[in-house]
Amino acid sequence: MFEDKVVVVTGAASGIGRQTAIDFARQSAKVVVADIDEKGGAEVVAALRSDGHDAVFVPTDLTVEADCRNLITSAVDGYGRLDVLVNNAGIEITTPFHEMSELEWDRLVDTNLKSMFLCSKHALREMIAVTSGVIVNVCSVSGLVAWPGIAAYNATKGGVMMLTKSLAVDYARYNIRANCVCPSIIDTPMTDVSNGHDAEIKEQKAKLNPIGRLGTPEDVSNAILFLASDKSSFITGSALTVDGGYTAI
Ligand SMILES: NC(=O)c1ccc[n+]([C@@H]2O[C@H](COP(=O)([O-])OP(=O)(O)OC[C@H]3O[C@@H](n4cnc5c(N)ncnc54)[C@H](O)[C@@H]3O)[C@@H](O)[C@H]2O)c1
Repeated sequence: MFEDKVVVVTGAASGIGRQTAIDFARQSAKVVVADIDEKGGAEVVAALRSDGHDAVFVPTDLTVEADCRNLITSAVDGYGRLDVLVNNAGIEITTPFHEMSELEWDRLVDTNLKSMFLCSKHALREMIAVTSGVIVNVCSVSGLVAWPGIAAYNATKGGVMMLTKSLAVDYARYNIRANCVCPSIIDTPMTDVSNGHDAEIKEQKAKLNPIGRLGTPEDVSNAILFLASDKSSFITGSALTVDGGYTAI
């Protein structure tokens, strides 16, 4: 489905991003893996290459503009084009809001929202030049409804939601689409950390989804690939929930 397409996936050393990189590669895309985790990113790319896929790792701190510029330039210089940007990287900080430090707030906003500004900005310059491109942002159900106890995280995802809609509106004239996916709880290392690696808490959280299980990284990557593909060519500015019914209640 993505033959000869060049796809950048941020935060692709782990969880949803890792699965997304794998699934694009399986659909014949050339995949640019970006992450601050150099060991994890290199491992993902080594595994993809050993399976015969075309992939490259670009070590990137997404909170730094020079790194984001370098990421996009590396994709275009290396593969000659950029078709899809998946802004996926994100972190969760669970410090109660009234105890959160300014440093923690800045880290959350920089990682979850500023990174999407920086990567999108540099990707859009390339996409505008060829009047073609797709951006898929990984938002969250907490961009739609307030998840208890993580106000600052919710605020970043609210920002991702409105950034996505705004890019869709402003860049449609250049044949560039922007959409986001909104997962509820997905079984990834991020979730394990926020659950304190407690299987019982994980089990309880799974019950919050009417479908009765946690989502898998594949559940989310399937939605990302759909939004990145020509099958969604009339869809832009949308937020696709991947939440087992969580927000339908
Ligand atoms: N897991 C969930 O339940 C869930 C639910 C809704 C939304 N999300 C969102 O999905 C996305 C992926 O989450 P995940 O669960 O796969 O998490 P994860 O922790 O498994 O992976 C996140 C990746 O982002 C990378 N990263 C973090 N900061 C970075 C930086 N400054 N520069 C470059 N890379 C950086 C990490 O190294 C890691 O590889 C996030 O945006 C998250 O908010 C996750």
